[in-house]
Amino acid sequence: MSGVAGTSVQRGPRDIESLVVKSPVSSVLTYRRPLVRTAVASGVDLRPAPTPRFRPDPARSLAVETNGRKEMLNMRVPARGAGTAFIATLAITALAACSSTSTSPSPSATSSGGAVPQISADAFTADFSAMKQLTSLASQGKGMVGVLLPDTTTSARYVTFDAPYLKKAFETAGLDSSKFKIDNAQGSASTMQTQAEADITAGASVLLVDALDSGSGAAIEAAASARGVKVIDYDRLVKGGAKDRTYVSFDNVKVGQLIGQGEITCIADWKVTKPNILIMDGDPTDNNAKLFAEGYNGVLKTHFDNGEYVNVGEPAGTWTPSVAQTTFAQQYTAHPNINAVVTPNDDNANAVIAYLQSKQIPAKTFPTTGQDASLSGLQNILKGFQCGTVYKPIYFEAQAAAAAALYLRAGVTVPSTLVNGKTTDDTAKSDVGSVLLTPLWVTTKNMADTVVKDGAVTSSSLCISQVKDACTAAGIQ
Ligand code: GAL
Repeated sequence: MSGVAGTSVQRGPRDIESLVVKSPVSSVLTYRRPLVRTAVASGVDLRPAPTPRFRPDPARSLAVETNGRKEMLNMRVPARGAGTAFIATLAITALAACSSTSTSPSPSATSSGGAVPQISADAFTADFSAMKQLTSLASQGKGMVGVLLPDTTTSARYVTFDAPYLKKAFETAGLDSSKFKIDNAQGSASTMQTQAEADITAGASVLLVDALDSGSGAAIEAAASARGVKVIDYDRLVKGGAKDRTYVSFDNVKVGQLIGQGEITCIADWKVTKPNILIMDGDPTDNNAKLFAEGYNGVLKTHFDNGEYVNVGEPAGTWTPSVAQTTFAQQYTAHPNINAVVTPNDDNANAVIAYLQSKQIPAKTFPTTGQDASLSGLQNILKGFQCGTVYKPIYFEAQAAAAAALYLRAGVTVPSTLVNGKTTDDTAKSDVGSVLLTPLWVTTKNMADTVVKDGAVTSSSLCISQVKDACTAAGIQ
């Protein structure tokens, strides 16, 4: 390819970390695993070489990242029978000198030369109208967007909110329903892996990954990157995930701080004189659980340190309500003075509350927290068994993630107007560009004006007979 200049060098095969095809070609380009650990291609079917030998191929112009250094390389592939060793002849030049040949994502123009809409992280609203700004992107992009959600049991959100809101976000942007697919792995990492592979085979150009754990998520993302598929970490950060991924979530430390502050307020409101608090974390394989804990432990620390509250313990965390119930029962048996719980999950809280009710613990005596504004969580708040819940309007998150996916699908960078923060990946020891949205603490005081007003829950499903009076008192019609 013209524009590639510089010194020709023989390059040992092992020092190329990643390979990005800069000039889309129509044929299949093979690469060999020892040579390239990750490979990203656009407009080309890039796959690991099935044999140690390479098919004859013309010289190609490629951009490679070699130990963090960007270079253009002109790669010649030995003909069949030319020996088993792969030899790459690299014509090195500074990438900057090759800008005319680069097809790197550009923030200012799409492949067809149109201006790229610069949507901002606070543009999203409950009516999804902001997604209409992205119709030109949706019509230009290529390939399918595969969405991989984790389960249906640790929170109602994935079925009740994430799946329908993502669908609505894509459709409002004009993306045909054949161009996105939303799967739920039902709690199985291998199912998610299979779904990811099916998406890639079906021509996905972007994957939105809400991983069950970082290990399985990173494997999915490595496979995606090797096939040139862009990745978005959805809600949960995949530690050690694809290098160039974008993370879309809420500010998860803030989520934890709201929970901690909500517990403190509730302890005062319910006049719990000597709080003995059990801290019940989420699943430790979920990076969010760590961030939530960082938030509430930070807020509660001074109260523990000055002896005002007692920290009874912080047993192994979980997102499985039945496991949370067993953990709580064991702790409560061992420490009958426990009179408050911190948990970052409404369904886990509901399991704890069911146990407390079986022990005839009265309402408004035993502060418990939650997250996700689930129906049971909101009803427990109205019943006086839960102090509040963190409401994360998933329609924000779904639109932000769908928007990021549409940019990547159209081959352009997610704009800095949308990427409003960064999150540390402590496995990769790097920061991941993030879209971080704002969560909200919901109690009886603001339930009517938030979740009910937003339509996240209908008053008819919320206000069942046991909470009818509480609904009326909270101004929920
Ligand atoms: C977290 C997520 C929460 C909750 C929890 C259990 O990662 O942010 O909203 O759903 O997982 O699934």
